[in-house]
Amino acid sequence: MLLLVSHSIVLHRVLEHYLKKYFPHITYDKIFNDIDAVKILEEGGTYELILSDWDDDYVDGFKLLTMVRENPETKQVPFVIITEKHDGGSILKCVSASVSGFVKKPVDFDVIDQKIKPFFEKVNVAGSDVVKKQVAIKSLNIPPCPAIVNVLRAELKKQTPALDKIVEYIQKDVALTSSIIKLASSPIYGAGRVESVLRALHILGLDNFANMVLSAILQEAIKDIGVVTETFWRHSLTSAVLCSFIANRKHPKHADIAYLAGLFHDCSIPLFLRRFPGYEKYADLALSNSTDGIALEDKQYSTNHSDVSALVVKTWKVEDVIVEAVRYHHSVDIGMPLNSAHYRDVRELWAILVLAEHISQYYGYSGTMPIKSDEDFFNVYEKAMVELQLDVIDIRDLKEDAGEVLENIADTF
Ligand SMILES: [Fe+2]
Ligand SMILES: [Fe+2]
Repeated sequence: MLLLVSHSIVLHRVLEHYLKKYFPHITYDKIFNDIDAVKILEEGGTYELILSDWDDDYVDGFKLLTMVRENPETKQVPFVIITEKHDGGSILKCVSASVSGFVKKPVDFDVIDQKIKPFFEKVNVAGSDVVKKQVAIKSLNIPPCPAIVNVLRAELKKQTPALDKIVEYIQKDVALTSSIIKLASSPIYGAGRVESVLRALHILGLDNFANMVLSAILQEAIKDIGVVTETFWRHSLTSAVLCSFIANRKHPKHADIAYLAGLFHDCSIPLFLRRFPGYEKYADLALSNSTDGIALEDKQYSTNHSDVSALVVKTWKVEDVIVEAVRYHHSVDIGMPLNSAHYRDVRELWAILVLAEHISQYYGYSGTMPIKSDEDFFNVYEKAMVELQLDVIDIRDLKEDAGEVLENIADTF
């Protein structure tokens, strides 16, 4: 994928016409000023080639070049400056900053043929798996972190959070206020009927309240993607409740984050459905506790919903422990070195999540894959069950108790 940065519509037009005619497989992002270009690069935008104008008003191509070269993630990306600056000093400045190409305006098809085409020829042709994966992820258009999450997190970091400010901020959003009241009144929280955001805060306590607000905001963000099926929602909500239930039994300290992990472990599925029209057949495996679906997705799309869901929750600034547990929710073990930070917590949360998937499928809240027996599940996810210190009989008992929990919340769906 390319990044084209210029304030000149004429330059955008000529480059686009050329690409459409000679390199129709190449996709690109068009940006019209350097502020937006910096933003997209800071948000982790990944490109195989950057073409940037350098003018005196809107696009400081030299500044962008310097930024790209200073970032270890992007320093190898070919960067071509296109400019009206013809003086030797400007060229020298860019060469010293390791520019890949310096093209003087005006630009027409002949100039592109001579100066820029060699760069186009390297795009998407010999792309490594890593590049293919980055390009695939980029094309999914992960929704940015909603601004209210940043406000909430900044306030919660303070020694004495201004609760009235949090409540006031939430109440500005009518849809959010109503989903918080609805959620706080649901049997999930056991607080009875709650009539206001402030009341929800008082009843639930700050930590519980904050997690609930985060759930509500991010659920809205997922709904905004537009391709959210009923099966997906039922599976996500059931998994959240089951994760919280299992955590309360086995690792109560994880109860809150377990709920979020369950809620968002498959959150990239709507992105895949939106981007890839044929994804339906993979979505069924993705929503089941299959260990095979991930490899099939990787083969077909150069990435998979576990990795992308982890990236989505990371983008939304959810705790690292959740990010990693989500990443491995279709794996028979986590792929982290023993000495990595949060190893123990991630493994416990991952184990909770895979068991929640098994129970969810047993009660018909997952994909349509044949339901695994407890024995088969134990054999595949033995490491997770050892982590939770559960044998096959414990799993059966837990499954029965979980059935009552799901019955109690059935009205929520
Ligand atoms: Fe999944
Ligand atoms: Fe799932």
